[in-house]
Amino acid sequence: PGNVARAADGALAVAGLGVREIAAEFGTPVYVLDEDDLRSRCRDFRAAFPTEDVYYAGKAFLCRAVVRMIAEEGLFLDVCTGGELATALAAGMPAERIGFHGNNKSVAELTRALDAGVGRIILDSFTEIDRLSALARERDVRPKVLIRVTVGVEAHTHEFIATAHEDQKFGFSLAGGAAIAAALRILDEDVLELRGLHSHIGSQIFDTSGFEVSARRVLALQAQIRDARGVELPELDLGGGFGIAYTTQDDPSPPADLAKRLRKIVDGECAAERLAVPHLSIEPGRAIVGPAVFTLYEVGTVKDVDGIRTYVSVDGGMSDNIRTALYDASYSATLASRASTAPPLLARVVGKHCESGDIVVKDEFLPADVQPGDLVAVPGTGAYCRSMASNYNHVPRPPVVAVRDGRARLIVRRETEEDLLALDVG
Ligand code: LLP
Repeated sequence: PGNVARAADGALAVAGLGVREIAAEFGTPVYVLDEDDLRSRCRDFRAAFPTEDVYYAGKAFLCRAVVRMIAEEGLFLDVCTGGELATALAAGMPAERIGFHGNNKSVAELTRALDAGVGRIILDSFTEIDRLSALARERDVRPKVLIRVTVGVEAHTHEFIATAHEDQKFGFSLAGGAAIAAALRILDEDVLELRGLHSHIGSQIFDTSGFEVSARRVLALQAQIRDARGVELPELDLGGGFGIAYTTQDDPSPPADLAKRLRKIVDGECAAERLAVPHLSIEPGRAIVGPAVFTLYEVGTVKDVDGIRTYVSVDGGMSDNIRTALYDASYSATLASRASTAPPLLARVVGKHCESGDIVVKDEFLPADVQPGDLVAVPGTGAYCRSMASNYNHVPRPPVVAVRDGRARLIVRRETEEDLLALDVG
């Protein structure tokens, strides 16, 4: 994060607070959120997209304190389950600033969204159009909706997190004609207020040409809808997926560049199709929260395996960061609790779980004198680490601590063994 630096004693400090103090107060592992860094990322997006709406994708990481932070910074919020919606509402997020996603929203979830008055619901299937239409009729309301369009773009990212190629579960296919059929059905039935189209092509994307192709395709569909029914939809959401730097090899675009490119393509395409430029929105999750957090672990054992490699075991692992095992994601690690002048040693940072795939950082040079009791920091863990954390091996999930102006504030407490046992009622 932006406010992390080595202090005079050689230890890392975030916003002026040393990691040893954080570990002493909250224990390890702990997710440490640099609050000003998160807020400045929100502001960068707001400044880059001043006339557009920026929805923070809560799936990346959600808790009440973060909802309040992003709301204070002027962002909207994208939720995709009843649980995320409940958290957003509990934090006081105005319902009209919430967008509700998901490919299988239940009757209960849709009912709750309608009763709360969420600003928009992004529709994902014909079943859902029928389901929501029935609920809206019963309540005599006319919710605002977007249609999620599968634009057929191959985003260059891991297969599991690419979402706009044809053969996957999300959205209405553009090529197959489902998207236009959905739009016409909603317009003809007139129970739902169709505000616009939506496309999200995947996550951790650096090559912006995918966004350009997808914008072009959804706007062509927009023109088709206009030609068929004489209606110009007023909004367009281009989704999230903007990549962040996990290692020095990643080179993300600043939001201002992204904004420039997206606007240029949308303006150009609208001119070509003789469409009024729709009100744009985007949904970054990772790019807002990912770089603002690091995980602080304590080293438990250091093992040299036959001279091949040194395994540095920390007190967490795949239960607090599944991304390395699941997506072959790359992270880095650094000795955080002290300076060292020892020569570098090729290490693998692993967790405490009962499988060999329990890797946090595959390859990293750590000082050769790394030893039990040292603290190791893994940066860039704000997105999809706490939110995808598990209790594998009955390991309680770590807390989240927000640091600002040299002070730490617990925003999500550590799970306890009592928490684990509380659910076990047999
Ligand atoms: N909008 C929609 C409709 C989405 O499905 C997603 C992410 C986002 C926005 C936010 O994408 P972001 O800006 O955070 O890339 N667990 C995976 C990522 C899954 C992303 C799911 N959808 C990971 O750890 O990489």
